[in-house]
Amino acid sequence: MPNVVIVGTQWGDEGKGKIVDLLTEFADAVVRFQGGHNAGHTLVIQGKKYVLHLIPSGIVRANKLCIIGNGVVLDPAALIEEIQHLAGLGVVVNSNLFKISAQANLIMPYHRELDIAREKRKGKGKIGTTGRGIGPAYEDRAARRGIRVSDLLNRQVFESKLHDNLAYHNFMLENFYDANTFAFEAIRDETMRMANILAPYIEDVGHLLHEAIGHGQSILFEGAQGTMLDVEHGTYPYVTSSATVAGNAALGSGVGPTVLHHILGITKAYTTRVGSGPMPTELKDGVGEHLSRVGGEVGATTGRARRCGWFDAVVVRHAARVNGLTSMALTKLDVLDGLEKVRICVAYERNGSRIEHIPADPSVLEMCEPVYEEMPGWKTSVTLAKRKEDLPPEALAYLRRLEELTGVRVSILSTGADRDQTMILENPFQKL
Ligand code: GDP
Ligand code: IMO
Ligand code: MG
Repeated sequence: MPNVVIVGTQWGDEGKGKIVDLLTEFADAVVRFQGGHNAGHTLVIQGKKYVLHLIPSGIVRANKLCIIGNGVVLDPAALIEEIQHLAGLGVVVNSNLFKISAQANLIMPYHRELDIAREKRKGKGKIGTTGRGIGPAYEDRAARRGIRVSDLLNRQVFESKLHDNLAYHNFMLENFYDANTFAFEAIRDETMRMANILAPYIEDVGHLLHEAIGHGQSILFEGAQGTMLDVEHGTYPYVTSSATVAGNAALGSGVGPTVLHHILGITKAYTTRVGSGPMPTELKDGVGEHLSRVGGEVGATTGRARRCGWFDAVVVRHAARVNGLTSMALTKLDVLDGLEKVRICVAYERNGSRIEHIPADPSVLEMCEPVYEEMPGWKTSVTLAKRKEDLPPEALAYLRRLEELTGVRVSILSTGADRDQTMILENPFQKL
C-alpha cells in the first residue's frame, strides 16, 4: 500500500494540517518526523477549529494510529498541555492509538531560556524564532548530550544527564547570556512527574512502523515548517534547526527511504513568511493587506502577523527539486478571489542578470528582485466550484501556469479552510 509524505514547499503555514487531516481517511497511521511545538497546524471540520502543535493532525479521525517520530524534539509539558486541550474539545488521546518514539530528544526548560536569550542578544539580526527551545534542543542532540524520551523511564540515567547538562547550560546562561539559571531538583521533580503521565505512550516506533508497513498498512508522514525553513536547503541562517524536506521523513521516523512512495508538496496560492529573512515577493501595499486579511495570516503558534506576497515559482521549483515532489496540493486559492490582476514571480533579477534558481548563497537572495508575469484575476469565488471544470477560467489558467512553472501537477485543490472545501483531483493513496 502506498505511503505518502506531506511537506511544506514555502516558508510554512501552507495548510499542511488541513491536508493531513483530509488524507488520514486513506491511511492507517500518521507520523510527525521533525520539528516540535514550533509548528501550528490548523484543521477546520464542519466549522469546528483544532490547532495542533505536536500531535499528528490525524488525531481527530477515529482509530488512526498517531506517532511522534524520533526526529521530533519533544517538550513534555507542551505535549501534556496539548493532550488536555484536545480532551476539552472531545478528542481523547488514547495510549493505544498515540505513540511517542523512545529515541526523540526532549526540550528542557533551559532550551527555551537559551532560545530567548540568544534572540535577545542578536537584537536586530534576530531569526524571529518561536521561542520554544527548538534550536538549542537540536544542538544538544548533535552534541550527543541530549536527554531522550527513553531516559524518562530510567531515573538514574536521567539524573546523571540532567546534572551534566545543567552544569554546562547554567554556566552559559549566567556568564554569556546574563539570563536565568535552573535548579536541578525543580527540573528533576517536574520532569519525573510528567514521565509518569507519558510512560504509557512511549514505544520503539521505528519498529512499530516497520511492522505496520510489512502488514500492508499505509503511512502518512506529516512534515512541519516548510522547505525554505530547512536547516540546509532553506534561507540559512533564517531557518529552523531541522531538515524539513521529504528525505527526512524516513530518517525522522526510523524507516528506510524506499518506503516513501508519493511526495506531496503543500503549496499556498501566494507566499507567506513568519520571522526574519529574505522573501523576494513580499508586498507592503494594499494587495499585501488583502492577502493578510482575507487569508487570516496570523501565526497559529505565536500569533505574529505573517508577511505576505505573490506566488514565487522560483521557491516552489526549488522545493520540487530538494523534496522530489510527486504532486502538489494547492491551497488558499480562494484568497485571491476578487483581485483585478494576479502576479507570479517567474525568476529573479540581480545586477541585470536573470536568476532561475534559488541561489546557493542566501545573501544573494537578499539582493534579488522578482521578475513578475501578470494574469487576469477572477470575480466569482473559487469556493463555489465543486469540480475543476467549474472554476472561473482565469483561476484555472492561473493553476495551469503554476503547474507549468514549477513542473509539478496539482493533485489536490483547497478552496476554503474546512475539510469539505477541497477537491481531490488525484488521490496520492490510490496509486503506487
Ligand atoms: P500549516 O502550518 O501548514 O498546517 O498551516 P496553518 O494551519 O498554520 O495555516 C493555514 C491556515 O489557512 C489555517 O488557518 C487554515 O485553516 C487555513 N486554510 C487552509 N486551507 C485553506 C484554504 O484553502 N482557504 C482558506 N481560506 N484557508 C485555508
Ligand atoms: P508550521 O509547521 C511558519 C519559523 C519561525 C522562525 C524560524 C525559526 O506551522 O508550518 P524556530 O522556533 O523553529 O527555531 O524558528 O522558523 N517557523 C515557522 N514558520 N510555520 C511554522 O510551522 C514554523 N516553525 C518555525 O517563525 O522564522
Ligand atoms: Mg502553521
